[in-house]
Amino acid sequence: MQTIHTIVDLRLALQGQHSVALVPTMGNLHAGHLDLVKLAKQQAPCVVVSIFVNPLQFGANEDLVNYPRTLAADCEKLQAAGASMVFIPTVAEMYPDFDGQALNQSITVQLPAMADDLCGASRPGHFAGMATVVLKLFNAVMPQFAVFGKKDYQQLFVLQQMVKQFNLPIAIIAAETVREPSGLAMSSRNGYLSQAEKSQASQLHAELQALCEKIKGQGPKLDFLALEKETVLKLESQGWHVDYVAIRTASQLKPALVHDSDLVVLAAAKLGTTRLIDNVSLKL
Ligand code: PAF
Repeated sequence: MQTIHTIVDLRLALQGQHSVALVPTMGNLHAGHLDLVKLAKQQAPCVVVSIFVNPLQFGANEDLVNYPRTLAADCEKLQAAGASMVFIPTVAEMYPDFDGQALNQSITVQLPAMADDLCGASRPGHFAGMATVVLKLFNAVMPQFAVFGKKDYQQLFVLQQMVKQFNLPIAIIAAETVREPSGLAMSSRNGYLSQAEKSQASQLHAELQALCEKIKGQGPKLDFLALEKETVLKLESQGWHVDYVAIRTASQLKPALVHDSDLVVLAAAKLGTTRLIDNVSLKL
């Protein structure tokens, strides 16, 4: 596995590669990321994994400084997983106008209103920052495939729209969420949870599954808002601080209507100071 730090070197290393799959990450790799690498290897012989904690997608009060950075362990895991290259750029490499303080990225991807919905409502600018860095990574690698996890469902949706509307010749591959035996979705942020919180954290997935069962069982009197509210109250009674619970259409992330049959049930909630997200797909 080659370790590369600059876009120039990356382009040189990729010369002559006809089929490349990119796995963008922020590092602190877990089994979920390694699953993305596995899926990438099924798409293309050359797999590039990027590790970059992107400042542009973090809000002022978020965990940019404390975000777990475990580069040496990450590289070992990627080597064992069979990645071809790991791209680890500096902030200055990704943001050429960075002056040591401000990124000075005056041109960014402009997203539709849905980027201010769900996670975007409490993380203003997050998705635009995320899409901007992913576009930069696409430009640096020019992959034929890019693999993202379904755990970040709204992120996946934004990127699918971006690739379509910018006519990018990249196939977005969606990977299933990898879970702990308890049902807790794997996430780098799980590392922030105390032992007690970690054993409680599987409630989020359990409540989403319970919500899916209620939707299936409710018949023609389906009241999505009431069901969402019930789940919020249940989680809050268990000590969660709920950001949202939402029943949406799987393809457009629009609020579900009674006749919709392909749905996704999403939630974001804090346990202590740790914000977790999860979602469950539901076909009626
Ligand atoms: O999902 C992530 O880890 C990040 O949002 C991504 C896609 C690597 C962009 O920084």
